[in-house]
Amino acid sequence: TDLAFWMIAGLFLCFLMYCWGLADPACGYFLKNCTIRGNLSDPSNMKVLCEKRNLEVIPKDIPRKVSVFDVAMNNISKIGKLDFKGLSNLKILNMSRNQISQLDNGSLRHLEAFQELGLAHNRLTTLSDHLFQGLVNLSLLHLDNNFIATISSSSFQPLSSLKTVNLTKNILYIMKEVQPIIQLPHLQELYIGSNRFTSFQSQEISNTSIELRLLDLSRNPLGIFRITADVLPYLEVLDIAYCGQLGHMEWDVLNRYFLSNVNRLNLSGIEISFERMGMVLQTVNSSLVHLRLNDLVNGSSVLRLEYNNIGNLSEEFLQSCKHMTEVDISNTGLTQLSEFSFRSMEQISALKLGHNRLSHVPKATRNLPTLKILDLSFNIINKLELWILKLGSNKILTLNEAFMNGLHKLETLNLAGNKLSSIRKGEFKSLTSLKNVLLFDNQIASMEDGAFEGLVNLTELQLDSNKITQTDIRNTVLTGLPLLRTLDISCNYITYVNDDKLDPPPFSHLTSLENLRIFSQRHKRLSHLPINFLEGLKSLLSFQAGSLNIKDLHPNTFIHTPRLWFLDISKNEFTALTPKLFHPTPRLNSLYLSKARLQSLDFLIGANLSRVTFLQVSKNDITVVNETVLQSLPALTYLDMQDNPFTCGCSDAWFVQWMESDNQTQVVGAGEFTCNYPADLKDTKLLDVELQFCTVDLGLYCYISTTCLVLLTLVASFAYHFLKWQVIYGYYLFLAFLYDTKQRNKLTPHGCQYDAFISYNAHDEPWVLRELLPELEGEQGWKLCLHHRDFQPGKPIIDNIMDGIYGSRKTICVISHRYLESEWCSREIQVASFRLFDEQKDVLILVFLEEIPTHQLSPYHRMRKLVKRRTYLKTKDGSAEENPILSGVQAL
Ligand SMILES: *[C@@H]1O[C@H](CO)[C@@H](O)[C@H](O)[C@H]1NC(C)=O
Ligand SMILES: *[C@@H]1O[C@H](CO)[C@@H](O)[C@H](O)[C@H]1NC(C)=O
Ligand SMILES: *[C@@H]1O[C@H](CO)[C@@H](O)[C@H](O)[C@H]1NC(C)=O
Ligand SMILES: *[C@@H]1O[C@H](CO)[C@@H](O)[C@H](O)[C@H]1NC(C)=O
Ligand SMILES: *[C@@H]1O[C@H](CO)[C@@H](O)[C@H](O)[C@H]1NC(C)=O
Ligand SMILES: *[C@@H]1O[C@H](CO)[C@@H](O)[C@H](O)[C@H]1NC(C)=O
Ligand SMILES: *[C@@H]1O[C@H](CO)[C@@H](O)[C@H](O)[C@H]1NC(C)=O
Ligand SMILES: *[C@@H]1O[C@H](CO)[C@@H](O)[C@H](O)[C@H]1NC(C)=O
Ligand SMILES: *[C@@H]1O[C@H](CO)[C@@H](O)[C@H](O)[C@H]1NC(C)=O
Repeated sequence: TDLAFWMIAGLFLCFLMYCWGLADPACGYFLKNCTIRGNLSDPSNMKVLCEKRNLEVIPKDIPRKVSVFDVAMNNISKIGKLDFKGLSNLKILNMSRNQISQLDNGSLRHLEAFQELGLAHNRLTTLSDHLFQGLVNLSLLHLDNNFIATISSSSFQPLSSLKTVNLTKNILYIMKEVQPIIQLPHLQELYIGSNRFTSFQSQEISNTSIELRLLDLSRNPLGIFRITADVLPYLEVLDIAYCGQLGHMEWDVLNRYFLSNVNRLNLSGIEISFERMGMVLQTVNSSLVHLRLNDLVNGSSVLRLEYNNIGNLSEEFLQSCKHMTEVDISNTGLTQLSEFSFRSMEQISALKLGHNRLSHVPKATRNLPTLKILDLSFNIINKLELWILKLGSNKILTLNEAFMNGLHKLETLNLAGNKLSSIRKGEFKSLTSLKNVLLFDNQIASMEDGAFEGLVNLTELQLDSNKITQTDIRNTVLTGLPLLRTLDISCNYITYVNDDKLDPPPFSHLTSLENLRIFSQRHKRLSHLPINFLEGLKSLLSFQAGSLNIKDLHPNTFIHTPRLWFLDISKNEFTALTPKLFHPTPRLNSLYLSKARLQSLDFLIGANLSRVTFLQVSKNDITVVNETVLQSLPALTYLDMQDNPFTCGCSDAWFVQWMESDNQTQVVGAGEFTCNYPADLKDTKLLDVELQFCTVDLGLYCYISTTCLVLLTLVASFAYHFLKWQVIYGYYLFLAFLYDTKQRNKLTPHGCQYDAFISYNAHDEPWVLRELLPELEGEQGWKLCLHHRDFQPGKPIIDNIMDGIYGSRKTICVISHRYLESEWCSREIQVASFRLFDEQKDVLILVFLEEIPTHQLSPYHRMRKLVKRRTYLKTKDGSAEENPILSGVQAL
């Protein structure tokens, strides 16, 4: 019993430990409302993204190590004192686009590592004294689009590292409020546009700002710009676009050297007179390299009169701007430019004339030897007479051999958004330096062989959104492009009726191609991907083939692209894929398969995807995730399974547990996974379903059954040792019970066949035959059942016994020492005694042939009881009981 006690105690202890193990909190890569990007073991770039989740408070389960925390675009209205407690590694915090009107005193304290704070698009009205206390490392502060009207004089004081402040679109109106900011020792950029300032005067700033490089004052109703002291000696960028009051702005810069470092000036839409603009430009002209004059049409009335004559204007205005390198006159309604507009600008390199109404390429753009970028996009040019760089979004119908000669240095050619309908042989032949050709959004429906001949340095060719069909995708068209790395033929009319081999394969010459995009074919969509479509693309890294209506991919599709790294075949109609498909692409890293009608992820098992870190299978019909699937993706760090119809049962229990505890793979949007089945759980969140019992069960069952088994064995061995005979007897009793039930069903209908069944041992047979039989059968006329005479041959002996006993009114047991030793006899006595028990009928008559001590009866526990309780007959010592049987019978 000592042993048993210790065993039970041990088992109990095990159970306790098991329970404790269950209660151990999962600490994995999992946040209910947010997404983690980056690496758990490398906190320096761990990002927690909670943007656009309808949050009303800052989530509580943010890992301490986070360095970038984004809660932009939620519905948070208040920041509590403890919301960011302990996030000592936090460097960037984005709370933009919320409803924040209050930050508790001290809520940002202790964020010593803090560098960047986003509070744009909120409802702040004042910046109080202690708001930024302790943020000594903050360098970038976004406060634009709030309702800030007052700034406490000491609120910015702690921000000794601040470099950039954006206060655009607030309701500040006194420059003095901003003064403490300008005075910060490291401030470089100050954006205070779109406020309500009416004047900018140097005496309001008082002290010299030693670092300020950029001042954005645009879109303020600025009536006065007055600088009477050298307070902004290092200012390089000044933006006063759309300033002025009632079509007027006073420009008063006492000394032209006060702004002598300004090299970029934005005067777009400024409400200033023509003469004054001349003065402005004179103040800065020696250093100016970049001038923006957009939108003058909508600006002052003075310029509106002049605008047709802007060529002359620019001559007068800009003649002295010798150092100008970039001129932006886009969006001014320009229809023409005088020939010598930019002649004086000896260093001009960029000229932006887009979004105007030029109908031909202005002569003013000729003979500018330093010009590198000319932007003529969004005009109405329909004829090409000259060399052009950016001609996007015009109305060019044909190229008319425009590029046959010259332009040897051209690197980028943008002809997107025109009306080109074909590309002829050698069209770009002479543009040997060309690296990028943008031809998207045209009407190209045919390409001649050798269309891109000569473009030996071309790396990018964009042909998307045209009318290209599969017949244009030929290896004779796509030839002579040895360095081509990116080809985009998306949104065209390519379609294949089956996946038969193409001869020759279309891309066989593009051996350097790394990125191929063919998604979203219009018309009938691609439908089939020929087996050897990718043949020859031995450098291919990225293949984007989404939205193509493909139903099946041949297992050999990727055998030609062993370096494939990125594969997007989402939005197709696969329903199932084969693991073999991925065998040739052992380097695959990112796999996009959303909205592909997949019903299971089992194809990933054995697909050899050991390097896949990113898997997107959202919007499919996946109901259950098999554990083996995720075991076959050992490198996975990002899993997107949103919008699948999960079956919320025990089959998902391990998945839930895995999501919550795994610290390598993060499952995006897990908090939003929704059950589709069973019906009563429909639309419940998977994580809210109580599945714990499933996982507990298995272990617990094992545990309980093991315990029971051990205890049973224990009890059984104890019982066997101490109560051996009772056990054996019990066993037989049990058997008898079984037979009894069986027989009763069989025998009840017909009544008794015999008057008595005689149970005896073969050794006592002579007595039975000589003494008992003649007496009972002969004298009394009883019908007896004797086994040697009445048992049916072939019938199982136990059945015979049962039939004999149940078929007789009485059972007479002839008991001797031998009888008790015989197996069958003891069975007979058991069955009979069971019947006694069972039918509450006294059917048993014991006849003792010899004296048997009670202790010998003890194993037959029940018989001893019988002997004690009932009368029985002895035969040996005659006397009064000389004819015991008869009297016994009569007594019955
Ligand atoms: C995470 O970072 C650690 C240390 O920088 C690096 O050893 C490990 O490979 C990274 N894990 C992943 C999945 O990028
Ligand atoms: C991730 O979990 C494994 C065991 O599951 C553990 O060995 C490892 O240290 C954990 N890594 C991190 C960064 O917590
Ligand atoms: C997740 O968001 C819900 C709804 O906004 C919120 O009730 C819950 O407390 C959030 N969970 C955590 C851990 O912040
Ligand atoms: C934001 O919260 C307010 C109440 O605090 C509520 O009235 C409003 O509908 C919420 N907006 C969104 C987009 O959830
Ligand atoms: C903050 O979030 C807004 C909105 O998503 C985004 O535009 C902005 O770039 C973010 N800023 C930073 C610093 O991440
Ligand atoms: C904010 O905290 C500072 C100390 O950090 C304290 O001096 C000041 O009174 C507090 N302001 C409010 C409004 O609680
Ligand atoms: C400042 O805020 C304005 C308005 O939101 C935005 O347009 C501008 O890009 C911001 N500038 C910087 C440098 O963040
Ligand atoms: C191609 O580019 C390289 C380097 O950019 C240049 O050296 C070479 O001359 C170019 N080839 C032609 C034909 O322009
Ligand atoms: C998971 O997949 C393996 C291999 O295909 C299979 O043997 C096993 O039965 C699956 N398990 C479940 C729960 O479907």
